[in-house]
Amino acid sequence: MSKTSNINRVDGFAKVTGTATYSAEYKTPNVAYAFLVGSTIAKGRIKSIDTKKAEWAPGVLAVITHLNVDKPAGYEHPKERGNLGQPLQIFKDDTIRYYDQPIALVIADTFERMQYAASLIKAEYLKEEHTTELQKVKEKGKTPERAKDYNRGIEDGYKNAEVFLEEEYIIPTEVHNPMELANIIAKWEGNKPILYTKSQGVEGTRKSVGNVFGIAPENVEVHSEYLGGAFGMGLHTWPYEIAALIGSKKIGRPVKLVLHREQMFTNVGSRPYTIQKMGLGATKEGKLTGLTHEAVAQTSNYEDFTEATVNMSRFMYDCANVSTRYKIVETDTCTPIWMRGPGEATGSFALESAIDELAHKLNLDPIDFRKQNHADKDPELNKPWSSKYLLECYDAGMERIGWKNRKNKPGSVKEGDWFVGYGMGTGTFGSFRNATAVKAKFSADGSLVLQCSVNDMGPGTATMMTAIGAEITGIPSENVVIEMGRSGLPKGPTQGGSATTSSVGSAVHDACNLLVSKALGLAAENKTFKGVPITDLAFANGTITSKKDSKKTITLQALFGTNQLDELSVENESKGSEEAKKYSIYSFSVHFVKVLVNPNLGKIRLAHVVSCADIGTVINQKTSAGQMYGGAVGGIGMGLMESLEIDHRFGRPINNNFADYHVPVNADIEKQEVFFVNKKDPISNPMGTKGLGETALVGMAPAIANAVFNATGKRVRNLPITLDKIL
Ligand code: MOS
Repeated sequence: MSKTSNINRVDGFAKVTGTATYSAEYKTPNVAYAFLVGSTIAKGRIKSIDTKKAEWAPGVLAVITHLNVDKPAGYEHPKERGNLGQPLQIFKDDTIRYYDQPIALVIADTFERMQYAASLIKAEYLKEEHTTELQKVKEKGKTPERAKDYNRGIEDGYKNAEVFLEEEYIIPTEVHNPMELANIIAKWEGNKPILYTKSQGVEGTRKSVGNVFGIAPENVEVHSEYLGGAFGMGLHTWPYEIAALIGSKKIGRPVKLVLHREQMFTNVGSRPYTIQKMGLGATKEGKLTGLTHEAVAQTSNYEDFTEATVNMSRFMYDCANVSTRYKIVETDTCTPIWMRGPGEATGSFALESAIDELAHKLNLDPIDFRKQNHADKDPELNKPWSSKYLLECYDAGMERIGWKNRKNKPGSVKEGDWFVGYGMGTGTFGSFRNATAVKAKFSADGSLVLQCSVNDMGPGTATMMTAIGAEITGIPSENVVIEMGRSGLPKGPTQGGSATTSSVGSAVHDACNLLVSKALGLAAENKTFKGVPITDLAFANGTITSKKDSKKTITLQALFGTNQLDELSVENESKGSEEAKKYSIYSFSVHFVKVLVNPNLGKIRLAHVVSCADIGTVINQKTSAGQMYGGAVGGIGMGLMESLEIDHRFGRPINNNFADYHVPVNADIEKQEVFFVNKKDPISNPMGTKGLGETALVGMAPAIANAVFNATGKRVRNLPITLDKIL
């Protein structure tokens, strides 16, 4: 990946000039406007709902509640979906399962009339006692089918160690809240639903909408071409999307529904509140001998949400005795959903804080301690790593952050009035490759067209596809056309789990190579190359040339002409190899931070942040660095700011806006750097890439906690690290 390794974001111009079309922006004749009215209690039943005034208000086209809804056919026989249970079936009955759960859909001919009418809906409830506080019900956990207890060696073996610690770590509920609100335009053509919606997976949306309405996925049309961020919230098809479809069917017109910012805090998932216990034991010299990681996380009262919170503890370090246990507990909230870095980010806060704490107890440098316990192969599955350059990440970060200035004794370095602390945390994430179909096409106008239904929530998928296609075919990147983000194209995967480049990139790679071979095959039959074996033909930038005699040459266009073709295309499905299954394929990252802490004010400044990652081959330095910066910033939010505060008396969020729910901004980070090892993984896929999006976040929050400890001697085990916790 040379010439193309630093091309600009191909959709950048459209995005920054406002010409990119987001779901709710599609020009749709006759569109009606909808609003979801939410419940004002957290649990109970709807006793009565008065919709009359709203129905009589000017311009109102429909008011839909559980009393008058035409229930979708699939409500009767809901299908299991992934590792979740059953999604909330909107308007199915009078049950209230969480605060702000939709109880009515109001549709009117204008936005203003819709809003006015929605304000006229009045409901009375039969309240039941709710629970939104995990701490109060944490004993009621159940082990999900997919997250069985794990033991290697002696169960809870850390207790036998010469030196050990047991600590509890807490992360609060966090919300994704991308800038672009959850939004949809829904319409029907006969029995065929058409959705312009915010989703991370076109095919997944087709499937779940098909399930709800009892329609084959092939008959569901989905457009999700541009997304203004998602961070995991687009991995679900949410009740609001079903509501818009129900509404559109009812009124026989397209319906536009955009959630309010407040509803983004209640209705489209969250990172679950999680309580973790770590037990770590080592010899006096610093060899880890036991590790136990337990987590209890919230789910909703209608779905089992499960994530890989404790999994990293099984393979991150070389340790003979490892136990992990994971439980989920029902709370009366919307179901959580993977939020960038998901469970691994949560888990890394406990593991990487505890490792730092044990290193301190042993009076060891925390990096020396980690290196001493480096896992040379995967100790969980007993397989070799496909590639692992974690040690390079440690060294690169130490150099850049100035680790040599760190003292093991907390509070021993000062700059003026500020205590200086250095901390680091390790991250990792599985690197996956999902089956992906791509069509690659040479057109008569000299362009290369690449088609796949995958979409791009922001990482730069189209740019990555362009770079790979251009590299293989020699077609200049400005002549590569990407068609993506809608149904009807060859089936791409959901954009999630940091797998898009490895999955879609590989499929582009394979399809383009097949396309070049096809072009060479066609050329070999042309009289220009009479007697020249196909192996002596080379393809570059739309022209086929004999390697032995560069005068023998023919353009694709000429070839199209001779063969009476308009285009030359290949459609191919690409997936992981059997060989790859013999290896453990993971990305690795290490985050380093230098903090300055003012002991009088409790203020924490991030003077310098460095994130180093082993993500295999870097396809595009710019978009990859962008991903790494963004993920690291997400981890900084987790470490220092983010927490959805609930008033448990009412089960409702207090800080449901961007003024009160804090996320980091530029001014919060004084200097930020990223570094990639950029060495090809020989196993993962043809390009040698591994995942990036999640590991960019995993390990950052503990790096901050560890740095704050190094600066102040205060160990904060409940995120976020706000100033009250260090005063
Ligand atoms: Mo990612 S949390 O799989 O969008």
